[in-house]
Amino acid sequence: RFSGVVQGPPDPILNLGVMFRADPHPKKVNLGIGAYRNAELKPEILQCVRKAEEFIYKHPETYTKEYLPLEGYVPFLKEAQKLIFGPDHVALKEGRVCSIQELSGSGSLLISADFMHRLLGINKIYIPNPTWGNHGALIGKALCETEKYTYLGADGLYIDFEGMKKDFLAMPDGSVILLHACAHNPSGVDLNEEQWRELLPIFKKKQHLPYFDCAYQGFATGDLDKDAMAMRLFADEGIEFIICQSLSKNMGLYGERCGAIHIHTVDKETADRVASQVKRIVRATHSVSPCHGAYIASVVLGTPELFELFKEEVKKMAGRLLDMRKKIYDALSKTAPEKNWDHVIYQRGMFSFTGLDSHQVKMLADEYHIYMVSSGRMALTGLNDGNIQYVADSIKAEEVK
Ligand code: LMR
Repeated sequence: RFSGVVQGPPDPILNLGVMFRADPHPKKVNLGIGAYRNAELKPEILQCVRKAEEFIYKHPETYTKEYLPLEGYVPFLKEAQKLIFGPDHVALKEGRVCSIQELSGSGSLLISADFMHRLLGINKIYIPNPTWGNHGALIGKALCETEKYTYLGADGLYIDFEGMKKDFLAMPDGSVILLHACAHNPSGVDLNEEQWRELLPIFKKKQHLPYFDCAYQGFATGDLDKDAMAMRLFADEGIEFIICQSLSKNMGLYGERCGAIHIHTVDKETADRVASQVKRIVRATHSVSPCHGAYIASVVLGTPELFELFKEEVKKMAGRLLDMRKKIYDALSKTAPEKNWDHVIYQRGMFSFTGLDSHQVKMLADEYHIYMVSSGRMALTGLNDGNIQYVADSIKAEEVK
């Protein structure tokens, strides 16, 4: 029965961590997964999270291990909405946003795509070229196919905004378009505010549905509000849209699987009907969502001192990554000046698209024990002052071959 099952391929991102851990080389560098590491290259539990956990531990009568309701932990959802829309947004006051807790960004993508397929008859979702490696698989699981739209130009390093707009205009009316809210993964290339504003009339005219993946709020600019700019522009215009929110990165809740789907609709009645359908899909997929991460996030976001601490800690993480970005840019510009590295400094967030091809990436792993995604995506989080020059020297050695 099972002997005919063929071996599945390893996950192109997660397997880099497996390879890294198995590598005994003293100079090995992990530039693979998008998970924050401090200057000692260690994962960190945020102080605001630690304090929230202490509070939760002391209040077991509130923070039980009971099943959550189908929509999730409501105090968390209220706070999560404010993080995206801003605390005083009229859409929240009018109850036009329905929110359902989900298994971080991935669960949110799967459930919301399933909802669109079943309830809106959507069979295709447009995704940027390039995009996060797991988008196609998650959307495919919801029985929607994906088609790529232009995001980067032929150089693969800078935005092709004209090409993007052209593609949006050429799509059938009412298309669903996946957009990265900020700190685009894998490229680190974002639209600026003016460009986002230019998209608004296109979405309106074509009645396209914006489908935001918001996984890196806080990592683009260090400021949670500024990083919500694109989503807030669409909300201010009254455009209906969906957001898949993850708290994995900005609150460091990776393994807690904490996130939410927010659906911005035209009125409260619509929001309530939409929620009723999304909840049915949640129930049929994994029954209910986990409570601990939602408890933590609700305490952090809902306690003024902890919220301030959270904002500081996000700023600090984003600041370290920016520092690493500047330093690897300087090191590459000095060590390998025959190539222009300006794209590295122009990108933002947790990643840099280096421009290295898959062969060069493989050689960096095989010969220099430096691990990054085959697209040439470098997670800046694996850099520190102790390995930057080694990484730059190794890239230089590969570039001149
Ligand atoms: C990444 O892109 O590295 C992260 O989003 C982690 C993941 O699950 O792929």
